[in-house]
Amino acid sequence: MVKVSIVIPTYNERENIGKLISTLKSILENLNYEIIVVDDNSPDKTYEVVENLAKKDKNIKLIRRIGKKGLASAVVDGFKKAEGNILVVMDADFQHPPELIPKMVEEIKNGYDIVIGSRYVKGGKIEDWSFLRKIISLGAIFLARILFPKIKVKDCVSGFFALKREVIEEKELNPLGFKILLEILVKGNYKTVKEIPFTFKGRIKGKSNLSKKIIFEYVVHIVKLMRESKEFLRMLKFGFVGFLGIFVNIGVLYILTEIFGIYYLISGIIAVELSILHNFLWNYFWTFKDRNNKFLNSLCKYNLSCLISMVINILVLYTLTQYFGIYYIISDLIGIICGFLANYLLSNHWAFKE
Ligand code: GDD
Ligand code: MN
Repeated sequence: MVKVSIVIPTYNERENIGKLISTLKSILENLNYEIIVVDDNSPDKTYEVVENLAKKDKNIKLIRRIGKKGLASAVVDGFKKAEGNILVVMDADFQHPPELIPKMVEEIKNGYDIVIGSRYVKGGKIEDWSFLRKIISLGAIFLARILFPKIKVKDCVSGFFALKREVIEEKELNPLGFKILLEILVKGNYKTVKEIPFTFKGRIKGKSNLSKKIIFEYVVHIVKLMRESKEFLRMLKFGFVGFLGIFVNIGVLYILTEIFGIYYLISGIIAVELSILHNFLWNYFWTFKDRNNKFLNSLCKYNLSCLISMVINILVLYTLTQYFGIYYIISDLIGIICGFLANYLLSNHWAFKE
């Protein structure tokens, strides 16, 4: 039988939580459900309100944690207590419309593994956000998507989503800060994701807990996720292959010129192409082994990707030296770094794409 567990993290939501729970109760009437509120011992005693409601209704449960441990970890603790096979996460402050939950649950029943309430697909909106908050949000999403090609959704940092229990079962979730969905999208066991648009309303009561510290925690969280999901290792492998390629390049240049007596510029061109081929083989069969791309297709794209990176390298060398008066060796070093990053991004997102 299907059971839905709604997990709601709270911190100083005394004015909201009672009303939200009664709204949920009327919306979820026809479902088998439980509501799990995870409160971090809020100074405004949010837990008291929930405790009283829980006494009268066995579908309402409270986890009261002592010592503020954060939004994302609160959700993980909620999951641990949850009995449902469908898990829903939402905020307590009415910025997430409860009316959307039946539709999200329906889509999970239709077969989607994860359903996300999304502000960034067509039809989605954000009310009342400052320009700065919008930039921070888009920056957070951009960073996540560029570093984790596995993530294909627009709103990967939404706090409103539903998922099948299997997605996170047996997965070690260890998130930091606010972005529990990001943790699930990187580590979870899922195939299909659906985004449903919604309007992220302005907060009426209470205030946002987002602070500079949370933004900093986001960056630390991303770095931690890169380590845990082996994306760092991938970048290291890619760099190591490039390093080996330098020796192939120089070796071929030397042998063709010295032993075969070929004009050095011709040897140079052959050396470049052979080192690209060499790097490709390593990257195809090692760095991006898990991606299962078509060999020839990847090969062509990787060649192009190297060409584009070379152009970027030269452009940076030229611009920094010519227009900024920087010593040309330093300009070149910066150019090499830019070229490397461009090549990595193009390889990761295009030539050897997921
Ligand atoms: N238990 C617990 N512990 N709950 C917390 C904590 C905490 O440390 N911090 C915040 N919460 C609860 C709040 O009480 C609220 O129910 C929910 O988590 C969201 O917190 P807000 O403070 O309202 O965050 P926001 O509106 O700025 O951010 C929301 O939107 C972001 C999208 O940009 C959240 O949904 C984020 O998860 C989401 O990424
Ligand atoms: Mn909020």
